[in-house]
Amino acid sequence: MQILSGKEVSQAQLEQVKEEGIKFNEQFGRFPCLAVILVGDNPASQSYVKSKHKACVRLGFGHKDYHLPDETTETELLRLIDQLNTDTTVDGILVQLPLPKGLDEEKVIEAIDPNKDVDGFHPMNTGKLLTGLDGFVSCTPSGVMAILRYYHIETSGKHAVIVGRSNIVGKPMAALLMKKGVDATVTICNSRTKDLASYTKTADILIAAIGKSEYITASMIKDGAVVIDVGINRVEDASRKRGYRVCGDVDYADCESKASAMTPVPGGVGLMTIAMLMENTLKGAKINVSKDNQ
Ligand SMILES: NC(=O)c1ccc[n+]([C@@H]2O[C@H](COP(=O)([O-])OP(=O)(O)OC[C@H]3O[C@@H](n4cnc5c(N)ncnc54)[C@H](OP(=O)(O)O)[C@@H]3O)[C@@H](O)[C@H]2O)c1
Repeated sequence: MQILSGKEVSQAQLEQVKEEGIKFNEQFGRFPCLAVILVGDNPASQSYVKSKHKACVRLGFGHKDYHLPDETTETELLRLIDQLNTDTTVDGILVQLPLPKGLDEEKVIEAIDPNKDVDGFHPMNTGKLLTGLDGFVSCTPSGVMAILRYYHIETSGKHAVIVGRSNIVGKPMAALLMKKGVDATVTICNSRTKDLASYTKTADILIAAIGKSEYITASMIKDGAVVIDVGINRVEDASRKRGYRVCGDVDYADCESKASAMTPVPGGVGLMTIAMLMENTLKGAKINVSKDNQ
């Protein structure tokens, strides 16, 4: 079985973005800049924000980090987004989700300038994705596509089954796989799907984005399937220093002997998400300077 290493692909991707960032700086006298807003003290969110900060530092990108208290009002958050929208030195704006109760995520996402929406969550960008127009694409599914391309995994005419229909993973994943040129035949499953295994067993490419630890087992996949595990779950483990281990939505050990290729967790799709965010920030910077020149 081939291991689809997110570590290898993300490193290659980051190197390429770094080089382009250097060229951007030579031409425009500054590096692309990402603004990240974190509201509250959710530990998982704090660790995601830290990784994004580290990636900016590694690439020499500019970064503006805003850590707002739990009790921040919607008006205050929207005012900050507005400031960043008009700040010409900021190319990408990311509001770390989930937001504390009382803050309307949809309203907050829609407040971000679609040209700086590096998460690709704004309805303008999700609409562009569906209609095949160029825009920002959600980082996790575009990271999955980068893995498939890197390892030359054929998608045309293949049956791709996605388990999960969230706005940030399942739906954009489906849109990317059904795109002209990618040409997979796509099935999307959800929690109400009856006899899930009868669908997953027909998948040439199976994408698990469920949020349930090791849910997909060998009996649910077809011989030779390509299995992409998007899940990141924490499972209590007293033998570990931190008290938990991280696993995916796929039972890796069980599926290993049946799949032809699989992404590990950790070391798989998760690393790609950050690499694609950096690529989107570079894209935002290019859009930003092209507006300046108009
Ligand atoms: N690698 C990364 O960087 C990255 C990024 C984002 C998310 N993730 C991880 O990916 C996983 C999914 O994230 P998400 O944000 O998409 O989660 P989510 O919003 O909770 O969506 C989960 C989806 O799975 C479906 N589902 C749940 N149980 C199911 C079952 N038994 N059978 C079939 N479908 C089922 C749900 O169906 P309903 O719609 O019917 O409820 C829902 O559509 C999580 O583990 C998350 O931590 C990883």
